[in-house]
Parts: sequence; structure tokens; C-alpha cells
Amino acid sequence: MSQLFRRKNYSETDTSTHLLRVLGVWDIVFFGIAAIIGAGSFSSLGEAVFRGGPGVILLYMICGFACGFTALCYAEFASRIPAAGSAYTYAYASFGELIAWVIGWALIMEYSFGNIYVAFSWSDYLTSFLGRLGMHIPDYLTCSYTEAKKAFMSGSENKELINAWKSAPLMGSLKFIVDIPALVINGLITWLCYIGVKESKNFNNSLVILKLAVIILVILIGFAYINTDNWTPISVETGTPSFMPNGFAGVMSAVSGVFFAYIGFDALSVLSEETKDPQKTLPKGMIISLVLCTVIYIALTLVLTGMVDYRKFDGVGDPLSFIFEKSNANVAWMELTVSFVAIVAITTVLLVFQMGQPRIWYAMSRDGLMPQKFQEVHPKYKTPAFATIITGVVVGLPILFTDKSFILDFTSIGTIFAFVLVCAGVLLLPAKEKIKGRFHLPYINGKIIFPIIFIGGLVAFYFWEPEFFQNLMKWNDPKEGEFRASIFFFILINIAICILTFIKNLSLIPLIGLSSCLYLLTGMSHENWFWFGIWFSIGLVIYFGYGYRNSKLSKS
Ligand code: ALA
Repeated sequence: MSQLFRRKNYSETDTSTHLLRVLGVWDIVFFGIAAIIGAGSFSSLGEAVFRGGPGVILLYMICGFACGFTALCYAEFASRIPAAGSAYTYAYASFGELIAWVIGWALIMEYSFGNIYVAFSWSDYLTSFLGRLGMHIPDYLTCSYTEAKKAFMSGSENKELINAWKSAPLMGSLKFIVDIPALVINGLITWLCYIGVKESKNFNNSLVILKLAVIILVILIGFAYINTDNWTPISVETGTPSFMPNGFAGVMSAVSGVFFAYIGFDALSVLSEETKDPQKTLPKGMIISLVLCTVIYIALTLVLTGMVDYRKFDGVGDPLSFIFEKSNANVAWMELTVSFVAIVAITTVLLVFQMGQPRIWYAMSRDGLMPQKFQEVHPKYKTPAFATIITGVVVGLPILFTDKSFILDFTSIGTIFAFVLVCAGVLLLPAKEKIKGRFHLPYINGKIIFPIIFIGGLVAFYFWEPEFFQNLMKWNDPKEGEFRASIFFFILINIAICILTFIKNLSLIPLIGLSSCLYLLTGMSHENWFWFGIWFSIGLVIYFGYGYRNSKLSKS
């Protein structure tokens, strides 16, 4: 049993780096925006708005809050093992091998599966850009098979998807529907990673400015077209105007799309060794970038839901240019500009993730948990060549048989799960000596404060939605049943955490991170949990079949 939790010791040689401390607060903020703003803001926002209506603004606040506390936990880990870099490595040093493997396995969902979604949304913007220029690619070559099928079966109003289904040529008894641009961009990015693109700070900064400029333009111009009636559409439940037309359960069902927009901030923690006075600079930079992103997302949601009825966003993959289409605000130049900038902005996110994945596998392979082949470095390009190609395959194959909303849910549940483990992990870390120049998570005793916050939150929620609590045990309700069951388990787990906190004087910051990430998981459907369970089980089978036996620690 103890073998499952064997830990890796990182010696000073592993952790001492010779990097220059050059980064200030605003550099961190820029890096943050570069990694965070991408397909989430340019694409998944549409799906989120369709599910929750204008009320998803609340969810953006909740996610920003959860991510802020998780970011601090990441920083704490990074300051302890500064040279290493990913949650996988931190976990290996603190909780041992099994949890490290589980996190490494979950990170595949963040990096590789996340990129499938990003590739789909790149395709949506390319298609809309080319369409504006008068070049029309047949619809069945620009969306995925399952997406078109789902749209047709559910009677969606999305014309492109319905047309793709109806016009696709037959291959035997199967309709030929493939997202060609998504496949092409994945091939191109894999090739760039293979030959080793150099990241350049200046280039990165100009892209961030471009991204921000276009988003601000969307907000400013969009505001002029807002019809405030759209902010209170008719509620499906009560038939009266409401900010949350599908109820709070509807808002929470948008969690994947909203959370996806925040993924990437975890990459910031690795900058600890290059940051001037990281103790202050790192948390400040991380929190500012998350606050800025939250403000941007709220403003974008207000504009989108104010300009166009939220129901029209069903299956729309390019919402920021969609709002300027002829049938909506009809501002052709904005439609064109937004599509073009989105293509560039989304490409950079693809690169960051596609470069990150092989490096995690490289580390896992060095520890013996993945085959040696994953450490193979290209003799000329000096990149992890084999791991890079496998990443390309892992991203490329599912493009053929999955769809955007499935992948979005899958990525988000896996990433939130990894964040839960990271926050819980920080709670288990032994107290450390404060070293000048390193980040140190402040300890606030959660003994009394955490139970008060939790019970206070529960009481406030009760007064806000008394009916929800009165029906908490009615899990058969087709609309809210799943959400109620999840909230029930969330409350149970938090009661256990409160008791543990009271006994063990646990630290408040990671506790809030843990509890808020657990809360985000309540928005996941049973189907999401089912697929996550399968993925998790496959991971365990591979670990026990391969990693456990081949681990470097089992040989030492
Ligand atoms: N947050 C990143 C994006 O939105 C993953 O593309």
C-alpha cells in the first residue's frame, strides 16, 4: 500500500535554477491573458449563454473566485518545487505516485482534449471569416459528425449544422461529415511543435494587445446595439421575465463553457523562479489577470445577451462575430475583424497547450510512468519528437468522432478535478520555513472561519431559493434533479471538511479553493461523470499495468 504513495524527492539540484528574475506584476498579467483568453471567450461563451441566459454572469464570478484561490495553491506548490512546473510534479513530491499519476492523467484532459475544443472553435472562426470573404466551404466539411447529428435530431435552429446533415454525401450508410479546418490546424500546430517554435515575448505581447483590443472593440460597439429587454427574457419555468430564464440549474449547467474560459492561469505558477519578489508579485499578477478576465467576460456576456436573444446561440461556435451578422446587428466590418483576430488569438492558445502536453509526458516518462519513447528528443530540433506526434494524434483522432459540447464538458470536469486535488494537496503539505524571495501562502486558521463561511453561504442560499432546498431530495425531476443530487453531495462533503478543519486547524485559502472547485463540479451532469469515470478507470488500469511496475522509484 505504501508503495502506491511513494514520493519523489527533488534535490536542490532539481530545484535550483539559474533563471534571471526579470518579471514584474504586469508581465505576469500579460502572460496570464495570453494563456487564458482564447476559445473560451471567443467560442464557449456562446454555448454558456444559450444554457444559462444573461444569468451566466454569476457563474463567471464564481469561476473567477474559485480560480483565484486555486491559483494561489498552484503558486505555493511552485514555490516549493520551483524548477519542476506542473501539478503532476508537485503531486509526486507531496502525495506520492498514485495521486501524481491521477493528476497527470487528468491533465491530458486539460491539455490534449482542451485543444480539441480549441481546434473546433478555430475552424468555426475560419469558416465565418472565409464566408465573409465570399468563400464558402461546404457545411459538412466544417463541423463534426456528432454535432450535426445532434442538431438535426434535437430540431436545432442552427442552419449550418442542419444543412451539413442534410447535404452530406453518403459513404456506404454513413454520412461524410468531417471538420477539415480543425484537422488541418491540428496538423500544422503539431508540425510547429515538432520543429520547435520559439516563443518570443514581444510577439506574445503584441498578440495579447491585439486580442484585448478586439474584445474591447466588441464591447464598445456592441453596447450601442443593446436592447435591455433581452436581459430579462421570459423564464421557461415561471413564464415571467427573468435574468435566469432556465433557473439557477440552467446557469450551473453552463459551468463547462464558463470554466473553460479560465483554464490556462495554472501555467502562471511556473514563472515563480523568474519573478522579481515572487512573494508579492506572483499572487498580485495572478489575481489581477483573473480579475481582468472576469470583468471582460461579464462585459462580453452583457453585450452578447443584450444584443441577441440568448436562445439564438444554440450551436453557435463564433458568437463574437455572430452578433454582428446580417441577421443580428449587421456590422459587416466588425464580423470580419473579429473573425480574423479570433483565428490568430486562438492559434496561440493551441500552441501553448500542444507544447505543454509532451513536456508533461516527458516528465512522466523520465519517472518511469510512461514508456521511454516519450523522452526521445529529436536530434536536430531538440524537441520531444515522439511525444509531440502522439499529442497530435490524441488531439486529431477525436476530432473525427466527438463534438464540441462533449469535449468541453470532458475537459472541464478533468481540469476541475485536477484543481480539487491541487487545493486538497496544499492542505496536506507540511509547514515550511519562510525563505526570502520565495512565494509563501499565508496561513489563516480556518477552524472557525471556514464553518462560518460555509454555513453562512448555505443560509444565504436558502433564503434566496427556499424552494430549491425544500425539494433537495427530489432527484427524479427531469430538469433540476441532477443538480439537486449534486448539491446534496456537495453539502455532505463540505460538512466533513468543516469537521476536519475544526479538528486539524486547516489553512483557509486552500480550503476556499477546494470548496469552490467542488462547487463547480455540481454543474456536471451524470453523463459527464459517467465518461469521466471511464477515463479515470482506464488511467488506473494503465498505472497498475505499466507505471507501478516500471516506476523509477520501484527500482531504486
Ligand atoms: N482558457 C483557454 C481558452 O479559452 C483554454 O482558450
